[in-house]
Amino acid sequence: MLRARRIPPPHIFPPDPWALEATRFGPELAGEFVGQAETMFALSNGRLGIRGMLDEGAPVEEPGVYLNGFHELRPITYGERAYGFPRVGQSMLGLPDGTPMRLYVEGEPFQLDRAEVRSFRRRLDMRSGVLERHVAWRAPAGQCLTLRTRRLVSFDDRHLAAIGWELSVEDGAAEITLCSELVLRPPLPADPEDPRLAEPFAGRRVLCPTGQEATGLRAILGFRTEGSGLVLACAMDHAVEDPERLAARLECKEDCAVVRFRGEVAPGRPIRLWKALAYYYDGGGVAPEEVRARAALTLDRALERGFDGVLERQRMHVARFWERADVELEDADPHRQQVVRWNLFQLLQASERAEGHGIGARGLTGRTYEGHYFWDTEIYVLPFLIYTNPRMARSLLMFRHGMLDKARERARELNHRGATFPWRTIDGREASAYYAAGTAQYHINADIAYALRKYVEVAGDEEFLLDYGAEILVETARLWHDLGFFSPRRGGRFCINAVTGPDEYNTVVNNNLFTNLMARENLRYAADTAEAMRRDHPDAFAELVRRTGLKDSEPVEWREAAERMYLPWDELLRIHPQDDEFLYKERWDFANTPADHYPLMLHYHPLNLYRAQVIKQADTVLAMFLLNGQFTPEEKKRNFDYYDPITTHDSSLSVCIQAIVAAEIGYATKAMEYFRFAAEMDLSDVGGNMRHGAHIASIGGTWMALTYGFAGLRDGEGRISFSPRLPSEWRALRFPLTIRGCRLRVEVRHDVTTYRLEAGDELTVFHCGEAVTLSAAAPVATRPTPPPPPEPVPEFPQQEPPAPRRG
Ligand code: BGC
Repeated sequence: MLRARRIPPPHIFPPDPWALEATRFGPELAGEFVGQAETMFALSNGRLGIRGMLDEGAPVEEPGVYLNGFHELRPITYGERAYGFPRVGQSMLGLPDGTPMRLYVEGEPFQLDRAEVRSFRRRLDMRSGVLERHVAWRAPAGQCLTLRTRRLVSFDDRHLAAIGWELSVEDGAAEITLCSELVLRPPLPADPEDPRLAEPFAGRRVLCPTGQEATGLRAILGFRTEGSGLVLACAMDHAVEDPERLAARLECKEDCAVVRFRGEVAPGRPIRLWKALAYYYDGGGVAPEEVRARAALTLDRALERGFDGVLERQRMHVARFWERADVELEDADPHRQQVVRWNLFQLLQASERAEGHGIGARGLTGRTYEGHYFWDTEIYVLPFLIYTNPRMARSLLMFRHGMLDKARERARELNHRGATFPWRTIDGREASAYYAAGTAQYHINADIAYALRKYVEVAGDEEFLLDYGAEILVETARLWHDLGFFSPRRGGRFCINAVTGPDEYNTVVNNNLFTNLMARENLRYAADTAEAMRRDHPDAFAELVRRTGLKDSEPVEWREAAERMYLPWDELLRIHPQDDEFLYKERWDFANTPADHYPLMLHYHPLNLYRAQVIKQADTVLAMFLLNGQFTPEEKKRNFDYYDPITTHDSSLSVCIQAIVAAEIGYATKAMEYFRFAAEMDLSDVGGNMRHGAHIASIGGTWMALTYGFAGLRDGEGRISFSPRLPSEWRALRFPLTIRGCRLRVEVRHDVTTYRLEAGDELTVFHCGEAVTLSAAAPVATRPTPPPPPEPVPEFPQQEPPAPRRG
């Protein structure tokens, strides 16, 4: 439940279903809001990310240009170290920034917060994938100038970004200088109050120069990292419309390249140019010259296409995305569609060209959590990708598969069999320093297996399962079998002790329900897969045995552990305890917790939290969503009623899940309220920290709240079913899903729900339990939408709850 903390509407944006537009440069885009706007207007393609710094390079709060996976190693220092603590961390690095285009009019610098601005528009156009800005101002010498810039990070060429620049003057000519830069800034400072904002390199050089190239209007800066051994090239080039009118001079040093253009702008004679930026990196085996040459190739290709060509390819790419992923709402509040599309656009930006990488907790929109990949990808983002971009879902799972050897090594280090995937990582090694909320989150292994299964079943990619997935399943099942034991004190049930579930306020607990249930799934699926492969795919099975040394006895053992898995149950309350001890703890004193003490982890010692019944994020409730069929409706309701009031949502991964389960139980009002918090997590800055980056898991969860929550999508064992529950304030909800190569479009209205097969031969889905078969000959089926049931009454006293805060 939520304390009545109103979500501020994204007030500064006029409602536009396809764009986010700031229409004035007022106080809401200055001061502390500079950082928020940098996140809101960040551009990324999943490989390259550029925060929304202003074109002039100032004012600026947290400038950032990032490449997915580009990191440096650093020692993790502990006051007291213990065996098995990771010693080497990984940190995503800020790269040279190619966005600054500093303008001087008659020698006076143009800077938004100091200029006499006549009009201002900054618009993220989600249909074209372009960030456009339009500023008209009066220069100190009196001329009225207009500057139009357009910026994109290309989906077509993942190493490319481009900036179009156009200056005109209404009255009187003006002499101008434009400095187009590519500049490496020193690392940002850490935030000593917030562990999520570590900055281990502050004040140090981490990018070591490997040489520069400078010719014409082109400069290429080369760097290398010492520890991680990565080789980087950052490059810029320019194309000027009327080169005779602009004199240009290029200067290039180790950390900075500048092209200085000088010329005159006159009425009817605007100045137009565009800048291509290329960022390329590779592993240490590649020579710096080769990496620079590749960056040069990206520039050559872009300049050949011209800015219009680059824009057109961007538009086409984004159009294909909306075709397969748009979610349309008919709502009286026009902001809602805008907010939903901004969320979807972030998913596009975080994932589209992330081939060969994972997805960081903030995508490439900020430095929080050092660019690490968590379970956020598998549980919160993969469902969206499985249904809208299965190719990328596969790539992310392949990326996990590529980590297996390191996960095997980590398991040996921890004295386990099988593989232990890292809680947070970039290069596959565990990078989490606080084991209680890190290494102990063994559930990540089952989360990966869960996502893998969903991918295989929904995309129908059995080949992936045979060639790669099965190997992950064998190693994770081995881990669970090794981690748990048949406890004589629990009637010989299989117990898993000393783990942390999703809820990081109750750590190193015994028999976390979520973990045990997910482990059970992992064990069962591994056993089923191994047995089916032995029977039906002997060659693939032989290869699996070769790679893993799988013994005949193992699937039998896994099955036994799964069947005898201990699941905590409290007969008195008739709920599932979150873990063995949870119900024995004292309830957190919410009444005497000041509102400004959330998130609790920034105001209380972990021990204060660990000994109380207080939950950071959906845990048992998440299990009820993911393993939906394994709880009775009564259990779902009682569990939800018990846990909801003591969940703080101090993690942004929480409210979206509460929304889905609330919708299923019939708590329509609450479901809507939670949905709003999830959807507006960033645009309304619910957590107060969006300036550090967009909350990608919550954004993926927003898509899940729409599809799984309000359309009631469920997909256990690949059986696609819907139980729509449209919020009363919406007239319709429409979205496409890609299922086993077919494209299904679902439209939920209050009276009827329509299923339309847009591509593919045949597909059967279930509507409120009834099978609906669609085919190319009969592609449309309409069924009555069930009327909303009356809202149920909660079982347990629902106290005034905390508001969702930082995540
Ligand atoms: C949450 C984790 C999450 C991490 C990164 C933490 O606050 O508790 O579940 O994986 O943030 O988003």
